[in-house]
Amino acid sequence: MFDYVHDNLHCDGVNLAEIANSAGTPCYVYSAQQILDAYRAYDAAFGDLPHTVCYAVKANSNLAVLALLAREGCGFDIVSGGELFRVMQAGGDPSRVVFSGVGKTRGEIEFALQSGIRAFNCESEGELAEIDRIAGEMGTIAKFSMRVNPDVDAVTHPYISTGLRDHKFGIDIATASAVYKRALSFKNLRASGVSCHIGSQILDYSSMLEAADKVLALIETLRSDGIQIDHADLGGGLGIAYKGADSAPGIPDYIANLRKRVEGRNLTVMIEPGRSIVGQAGVLLTRVLYTKRSPAKEFVIVDAAMNDLIRPTLYQAHHDIVPLTRTDAAAAVVDVVGPVCETGDFLARDRSVEGATPGALLALKSAGAYGFAQSSNYNSRPRVAEVLVEGSSWRVVRARETYADLIQGESI
Ligand code: LLP
Repeated sequence: MFDYVHDNLHCDGVNLAEIANSAGTPCYVYSAQQILDAYRAYDAAFGDLPHTVCYAVKANSNLAVLALLAREGCGFDIVSGGELFRVMQAGGDPSRVVFSGVGKTRGEIEFALQSGIRAFNCESEGELAEIDRIAGEMGTIAKFSMRVNPDVDAVTHPYISTGLRDHKFGIDIATASAVYKRALSFKNLRASGVSCHIGSQILDYSSMLEAADKVLALIETLRSDGIQIDHADLGGGLGIAYKGADSAPGIPDYIANLRKRVEGRNLTVMIEPGRSIVGQAGVLLTRVLYTKRSPAKEFVIVDAAMNDLIRPTLYQAHHDIVPLTRTDAAAAVVDVVGPVCETGDFLARDRSVEGATPGALLALKSAGAYGFAQSSNYNSRPRVAEVLVEGSSWRVVRARETYADLIQGESI
């Protein structure tokens, strides 16, 4: 939890200024407790219904974060061979891994089969044929779900909505039954589930329930056609409250609604939450370098930039910005920008920020998901450090990159 104690922002038992001063800025800080609480909220809400929570690794793939979840028995949703490698390095159980994504390569499919993952979430018939071929060469059987596109509007930012007919994801749910029937002729494949994921940062989960109903109806049809289906993978997508004043759907409420639909069907439910497990558990710490006034605006220039947190630039996303030390100084309406040479390099626009004077430390909140994971070396900026807080202790779980790291693997 991120709360003020005597005007100093803390993450659980640790003063964040201590981390900023010692690990340097910019730096991401994650609360182990908050990650575990969110995972356990999902797990507990399912109760005795057979289920696997497959954390969506793309949201935050730091090894220490994955290891925390792996130790809880969490499963993982991966979208690349690199993510599978990370999961295994972190001690994750490959038999609790599902592999999503529209463009799996031969090398990735081989790696996943060797590792013994739970299922491929397939997104096209071409991919089914490729997995069948590779499994045949390897003398193994691949288990699959088709990812269906239920044509449900997730009502979120267009870049992170995935369940409409004109999106690249999944196959049209109306054609799915025929695809499963054709797949019966593949000797090295076995149908195991149906999967779906309609988008991310969904604040009204009724669309997710509508998609779940469509998936469950499809499963009934498939079963009546004699196709064995043992699980429904209902994807991720539950949103979080980015603005302090906003509210987000509760994990227990959403899962209670899913349970009602799945109970008595002899199905294992899988879900693939990312943001709702790690999003609120992380902040990005940054230091103010300069302030400057143009005729139209007041700018606060900080040491973090769009390459460290691209969400404001890419999705017009809002991250609350708060001072690490609260003072009586009046808040000013400013643009918070970074050192990158792009007009699009902003972390907040026309935002009332307190205490943003040169040298001051600020925290961008709700940055645990799709923060570091989407960071880059643009402008040859070394990627920032990541820190994990456990109770009243903390440690660096990814060192700040050095200049030598920047050119690693390059040659003249
Ligand atoms: N499963 C699949 C197949 C996905 O594509 C995603 C996210 C998830 C699960 C996890 O969704 P979540 O529970 O985190 O909403 N970079 C964007 C979000 C992209 C989401 C991509 N897919 C952002 O920063 O908002």
